Amino acid sequence: MLKLTSLKEFISKNREDFPFLIEDLQNLLENIVSASKALQADISKAGLLNHVLGAQGKQNIQGEAQQKLDLIADNLFKNAFEQGGFVCGIASEENDDFVAFESQAAKNANYVVLFDPLDGSSNIDVNVPIGTIFSIYRRITNVGAKAELKDMLQPGSKQVVAGYVLFGSSTLLVFTTGNGVHGFTLDTARGEFYLSHPHLKMPQNGRLYSVNEGNRNDFNPQLRTYLAYCQSDQNQTGKPYSGRYIGSLVADFHRNLLKGGIYIYPAVSSAPKGRLRLLYECNPLAFIAEQAGGLATDGNQQILDIEPTELHQRAALYIGSKEMVEKAMGLN
Ligand code: AHG
Ligand code: MN
Ligand code: MN
Repeated sequence: MLKLTSLKEFISKNREDFPFLIEDLQNLLENIVSASKALQADISKAGLLNHVLGAQGKQNIQGEAQQKLDLIADNLFKNAFEQGGFVCGIASEENDDFVAFESQAAKNANYVVLFDPLDGSSNIDVNVPIGTIFSIYRRITNVGAKAELKDMLQPGSKQVVAGYVLFGSSTLLVFTTGNGVHGFTLDTARGEFYLSHPHLKMPQNGRLYSVNEGNRNDFNPQLRTYLAYCQSDQNQTGKPYSGRYIGSLVADFHRNLLKGGIYIYPAVSSAPKGRLRLLYECNPLAFIAEQAGGLATDGNQQILDIEPTELHQRAALYIGSKEMVEKAMGLN
């Protein structure tokens, strides 16, 4: 059998790719790995455990029904970061406000993590892939102090690490530190992630489009024109593209990353600024897309250039193969 490279071996072999303290990165990723393994264990038996499956009965600050697993995931990651001591504060989709950790170790830490604990919540009960999406930034405030809101409100171009854990037919950790994108698969028996997808590159063009067509009547004219192009024989393949929409952004994105494709969530009347969260969903996936040779915009400007003004800010998202995103924006 081929000798596998564990995540730890990979990091120590590629030290020069990590733009900050190697120990911090290793430890922070270790925190993410341990929370992911615990979450994977809960997800894999969700249907058997009453406290894991179903709705919590509450809404988050964005008015969305929280699933029990949303909160389980949120707590697992929050606790892992707080106990790890390498992060001064976090912000998450499921928390009304950001959290500044109180311990001295946390105050002395250099980084903040922003995350969507569980993406694709509506798919939990039906056994469809879901995932955790995260972004790591250097803090802006001084080391030794408590984290502040301005540490969280940084443009995506300032990310030092972005990644996701996809709980699908296998559990995959995909991340970038700004030197390409790599994927690691969890060997559940050994409890280790091993390199399975080195140097991921997104095809420049593709034939998969992912959009919620139920909102079609709400789409802007440019997007309708692009959709007609996708569904015609006038595109580069000479036949209609295939529509693929799981409803878990992370899973739709991952498929398009591997096979080539585009995911679009435009502004619609039910979500006038777009549905997806800039800080927890758009920015991390945009960093990964660009590192893999793809593109991510809000239809006008690059996602990574947007200056956030609020924590739970929404954005329209056009993300995927470069030529497809440009075409959807009317640029080619
Ligand atoms: P979340 O489960 O974190 O709230 O995110 C759901 C997002 C995204 O994963 C998905 O692509 C999109 O919402 C689906 O929205 P629609 O049901 O409106 O298509
Ligand atoms: Mn989400
Ligand atoms: Mn979520």
